[in-house]
Amino acid sequence: MILLTGGTGYIGSHIAVELLQAGNEVAILDDLSNSDKSVIERIQHIAQRNVIFYHGDVRDSSLLASIFQDHHIESVIHCAGLKAVGHSVKDPLAYYDVNVYGSICLCSAMQKAGVKRLLFSSSATVYGIEAEPPYVETMARGVSSSPYGTSKGMVEKLLEDLFASDPQWSVGILRYFNPIGAHPSGYIGELPQGTPNNLMPYISQVAAGVLPELLIYGDDYATDDGTCVRDYLHVVDLAIGHRVALTVLEEPGVHRYNLGTGSGISVKQMVDAFVASIGVEVPYRYAPRREGDLAAFWASASKAERDLGWQPGKTLEDMMVDTWRWQQFSNKAQQSS
Ligand SMILES: NC(=O)c1ccc[n+]([C@@H]2O[C@H](COP(=O)([O-])OP(=O)(O)OC[C@H]3O[C@@H](n4cnc5c(N)ncnc54)[C@H](O)[C@@H]3O)[C@@H](O)[C@H]2O)c1
Repeated sequence: MILLTGGTGYIGSHIAVELLQAGNEVAILDDLSNSDKSVIERIQHIAQRNVIFYHGDVRDSSLLASIFQDHHIESVIHCAGLKAVGHSVKDPLAYYDVNVYGSICLCSAMQKAGVKRLLFSSSATVYGIEAEPPYVETMARGVSSSPYGTSKGMVEKLLEDLFASDPQWSVGILRYFNPIGAHPSGYIGELPQGTPNNLMPYISQVAAGVLPELLIYGDDYATDDGTCVRDYLHVVDLAIGHRVALTVLEEPGVHRYNLGTGSGISVKQMVDAFVASIGVEVPYRYAPRREGDLAAFWASASKAERDLGWQPGKTLEDMMVDTWRWQQFSNKAQQSS
């Protein structure tokens, strides 16, 4: 059985579906602080399999101990955490508490239970503000622009130290670039609270009329069209990346992988791609740059391809169409609630 923390969240729910469909038993631990219990039914509906759900906090050591006692957990995928970069600047303690202390509690419980295989949701932000794209796994971690990014780097270091102390550990550090899109069924996707921080839900909420216009932060970056460039990948491809990365855990060590497409696309190009794929206008306006945003970064994706045979299979159009299908599902769900 695989224990998946944060499994009702955006990325975790897609991982859960992918694991169940591949025949794995899955237990989810989530405190529902940024997700909804109904996601469990939707995961089960898509996968046509049941999942075990624990409603609880990853910092709850006694709950963790009982989960490891009650199930034969082979590996853990740790997605639970706080993820809003801007919010982390305002409330750093919350980010170090949930992201760092939460990881310490999880690893301690794993150690006590003798479970030493872990995939960790890290982020491209660990490369820091000075790194030149494409980001390669051999680059050192850099200085982050936010407590969120720092918390991810701290957990990476903690996991490296854990392996140094006990070479039986197998740790997969997965550095995500910019996951977007939703499951093609339309049943699960990103569920932002309030005005989205991320581009794709922002675009789709404007297209759906939930928000009046899209603010594009900065049009004077040193990029082709002046807007920021990121490496957007489909969340289903990201979920597949976790399933295949579980195989590297058979080998003890610290395994670092970028999960990105290997190419960058600008914010303006994303808006144009959405309009071209969906045929719905997205009114937008340029606004001042957001503090902490980098001009451009994308992944070197060759290590994951070489070692894991992982390559994103979804197109930009898939990302747009699946986002839009999910937006319509969420609209309907909201209207009927
Ligand atoms: N979405 C991105 O763009 C992105 C990029 C890089 C890395 N990540 C990382 O991937 C992971 C998943 O991100 P996501 O986009 O699915 O976020 P999400 O907020 O949708 O999912 C995180 C889940 O963790 C749960 N959670 C939060 N605190 C918890 C706690 N103390 N105990 C138990 N559960 C808790 C939330 O309820 C939520 O369901 C996070 O660690 C995030 O930092 C995300």
